[in-house]
Amino acid sequence: MEIFYARETDIFQFQFMELITFEYMLESLRYNNSTIHFGSLADSGFEELLEKEYGSSKKIILTDETVGELWIEDLITSFPVLSHAEIIQIPPGEDFKSIEVCTQIWEALSEYQIGRNDLIINFGGGVITDLGGFVASLFKRGLRFINIPTTLLSQVDASVGGKTGVDLGPYKNQIGVFSDAEHVFIDPRFLGTLSDDQLLSGFTEMLKHGLIASEEHWNNLIALSKVDSQIDIELILQSVNIKKQIVEVDHKETGIRKNLNFGHTIGHAIEGYKLANDKPILHGFAVAWGMVAEAELSLMKGLITRDINEEIKNKIESKYPKISMDPSDFKDIIKLMYNDKKNRENKIQFTLISGIGMAVYDQNVTDKEILDVLKKVF
Ligand SMILES: NC(=O)c1ccc[n+]([C@@H]2O[C@H](COP(=O)([O-])OP(=O)(O)OC[C@H]3O[C@@H](n4cnc5c(N)ncnc54)[C@H](O)[C@@H]3O)[C@@H](O)[C@H]2O)c1
Repeated sequence: MEIFYARETDIFQFQFMELITFEYMLESLRYNNSTIHFGSLADSGFEELLEKEYGSSKKIILTDETVGELWIEDLITSFPVLSHAEIIQIPPGEDFKSIEVCTQIWEALSEYQIGRNDLIINFGGGVITDLGGFVASLFKRGLRFINIPTTLLSQVDASVGGKTGVDLGPYKNQIGVFSDAEHVFIDPRFLGTLSDDQLLSGFTEMLKHGLIASEEHWNNLIALSKVDSQIDIELILQSVNIKKQIVEVDHKETGIRKNLNFGHTIGHAIEGYKLANDKPILHGFAVAWGMVAEAELSLMKGLITRDINEEIKNKIESKYPKISMDPSDFKDIIKLMYNDKKNRENKIQFTLISGIGMAVYDQNVTDKEILDVLKKVF
């Protein structure tokens, strides 16, 4: 996996910072045929690349109705190479990240007589990049695909790292494969039409990257007075770089990649519980408070100091609305944690932090400890 960073008309290979160090990283660096480009699509060589690498391929753009309405005309008119592309548009939202929608898309691909040499361009948020990557990876045993993520969350997280898949009823990401996009184009211009809440939701994953891997990144992020669509691309790049370095050494999440789950064990359970009770909350909001709770667990286990715990709580509290919960909800929330894919031998496995910028995975925590933390935080 290489990272390229485009500024105006220059494209230069980004010398990524070693924000995290893995002694064994160089030895176990795997070849990963994926390139991440930063900057405006036009300056990132998007059109040239499509002509050079995919000139003879039919092109399919997969998007959702919201992104389609806001951006598809702009995309097609800016890049004539896409003028003959077929567009597949699905309704927006997590409800459509399903196997039924995949079947419909596969049928459309068959109608368009798409073959192994053709290209899918996933143009949208994390739902589109997860679903589109999965659709591409399975159709005719694998089509090439490119991601153009349009939400902050998909730019810093979902579009990179090769996890693709769909939900199975209430179970998130239950069906999926590891499969990397050949190219990912991260163009912050698309963030201009995103709501403040969606921006903040994506920002959570950036904070998480700081907390698990780089105190410097965390400090840069918490120094921002507001999170808006003008967010510095360098910060996006730092976040992607942290994720890239982790997935490069542990693509299939057998070890260090589990660090990316910090905040998600409690966060996912809260998100699922709220959804089941018809009070859905944004993923990033649930994970932000999941990080507060899991920092509290880290304190309880003697992994971090009281000061660090307070800092995390205060910074998140100042940005994210408090999630209201009744103590009678807590037992059900803990039950949901037992469904987590990361568990082993029916034990809930947590990733905790041992400082700002340091994480430890596979931490066993008892139900009583989780209950105590939920009572304290919510
Ligand atoms: N594969 C991974 O590693 C990974 C990591 C994190 C999250 N995810 C997945 O990502 C999904 C969440 O991603 P998301 O938050 O991007 O959700 P999303 O794709 O549903 O996008 C959120 C909303 O924003 C709209 N939208 C997208 N781009 C826009 C733009 N530029 N302007 C205005 N509106 C826009 C969408 O239509 C949608 O309504 C979940 O399904 C989650 O499981 C995957």
